[in-house]
Amino acid sequence: MKKLMVGNWKMNKNGKECTEYLEAFVAKYSGRREAWIAPQALYVKLVINSPLKAGIQNCSEHVEGAYTGEISPRTFKEMGGHFVILGHSERRQYFTENSRNLNPKISTALNEGLTVIYCVGETLKERDQGLTLSLIEDQLHQGLNDQSKATVENLIIAYEPVWAIGTGKTASPLQAQEVHGFIRSILTAKFPAFGHQTRILYGGSVKPDNVEELLAQKDIDGGLVGGASLKARDFLALCGDM
Ligand code: PGA
Repeated sequence: MKKLMVGNWKMNKNGKECTEYLEAFVAKYSGRREAWIAPQALYVKLVINSPLKAGIQNCSEHVEGAYTGEISPRTFKEMGGHFVILGHSERRQYFTENSRNLNPKISTALNEGLTVIYCVGETLKERDQGLTLSLIEDQLHQGLNDQSKATVENLIIAYEPVWAIGTGKTASPLQAQEVHGFIRSILTAKFPAFGHQTRILYGGSVKPDNVEELLAQKDIDGGLVGGASLKARDFLALCGDM
C-alpha cells in the first residue's frame, strides 16, 4: 500500500481558499503518496469534486432523525464522501468524546461504508507518568470493541500524542515507532485477518522537514497533518511532490 497523507484542516479555510488550494495542489500532485483531505464540513463538496478523497472531522452515531446540528454519515457517504476522522484529541478535549462513546460512532460509520480514521494518543502528563502504552491499549480496545465490519480498507488508526499537536514538538521517529509497533501488536491480535496490514498514521507537528524520517519507520504508514496541510506547497512536499 502507498503511504497516505491526510490533511485535517480543522475549522480553517473559506470557500475561495479551498478552491485555490485544490487547484494549486492538483496541478502538481503526482499520486506518489495518497492524499486525502478533511475540510470544514460545509466545503466538503469541493474536495469530493477534486481527485482527492474527502473526509469529515466528526459524524453522528445516528444515520438520520431528530439530532439537531449533527452530520449523518449516511448522507456524507451518499454525497461521495470517503472517510471520517473520529476521536481526534480536540474532540475528546472540548466535546466530551471518549473511547467508550466513540465506539458506536465508529460502528455506524463503518456500517455506512465510510473509512474511519480512529485517533488515539496520550497527554504529556500521561507520558511522564509512564501511562502511554496502557492508555493507548484502552483507547484501542474501547473504541474498536465489537467492530465486526472493520477491514483493512475501512479502518485506519492515527497515533497523535496530544503534546505534539500544533505545538511544533514532534515525537522522535523512535518514540513514534515504539508506540506504532505496540499499536500494530494490538491490531494483529484483535483483527488476525488484517491487523498486520492496517494503516497506522502518525500525527503531531508533521512537517516537510521531518516527514521522511517518520515515514522511514517500519510501522508508520503515513501522516495525519494539521498545520502543515494548510499550505498546498507544504502538503505537496509531504506527499513527496516538491
Ligand atoms: P498538527 O495537527 O499537524 O498541526 O500538529 C495534527 C492534528 O491535529 O491532526
